[in-house]
Amino acid sequence: MIFAINEVLSKEELKMIIETLDQADFVDGKTTAGWHAIFVKNNMQLNSNATYVKKLRELIKTVLKRNALFQSAIQPKIIHSMLFSRYEKGMSYGRHVDNAFMGNQEFWRSDVSFTLFLSSPSTYKGGELVIECTDDERTYKLEAGSMIVYPSSTLHRVEPVTQGVRLAVVGWVQSLVRDPNEREILFDLDTARRAIFAKEGKSIEFDLLSKSYANLLRKWAN
Ligand code: NI
Repeated sequence: MIFAINEVLSKEELKMIIETLDQADFVDGKTTAGWHAIFVKNNMQLNSNATYVKKLRELIKTVLKRNALFQSAIQPKIIHSMLFSRYEKGMSYGRHVDNAFMGNQEFWRSDVSFTLFLSSPSTYKGGELVIECTDDERTYKLEAGSMIVYPSSTLHRVEPVTQGVRLAVVGWVQSLVRDPNEREILFDLDTARRAIFAKEGKSIEFDLLSKSYANLLRKWAN
């Protein structure tokens, strides 16, 4: 399931992040690429040792914790990796798949990847995120503060930036529910029961759907 979440960041949060990144120390993105992705990764990213990186990561985690759609659709166990990337003119990230496991001391599985766009699409040309699906490709270039969420199992790329600067946050999540089909069933059930609750409150139907939702989550979560 690929989906967009609009306005993940408030205007103030976006402004704060951009102001921090404007004065930040960026390094070559190849430092965190896998042995094959390194051949196609041509961008820059925030130096992970910088003091403000921890603060920025915490902010993004807080923002995602409060986002009901992200929580319901992803069932995050842990957001284990996050990079702040910068693409200038001529930079791109060619076709690749994200590593299945990430981490230094502890290894976490990458079930879901996200790209949170930070630059307004009117300020740069190119830089689209392209995700390959079974029989087609989907292209995304969202408003600043909006996010695209997609399975880490896909082949994807970032098209060359031909003008301006593209800033984005990319992150990886291990979900409580490993199987994307099971996640989708849970998401549908959760959406349906919330719609019923909004219409008729805690009805018999709501209780039954909630029971199924809770019991499937118990069965499938690890
Ligand atoms: Ni990737």
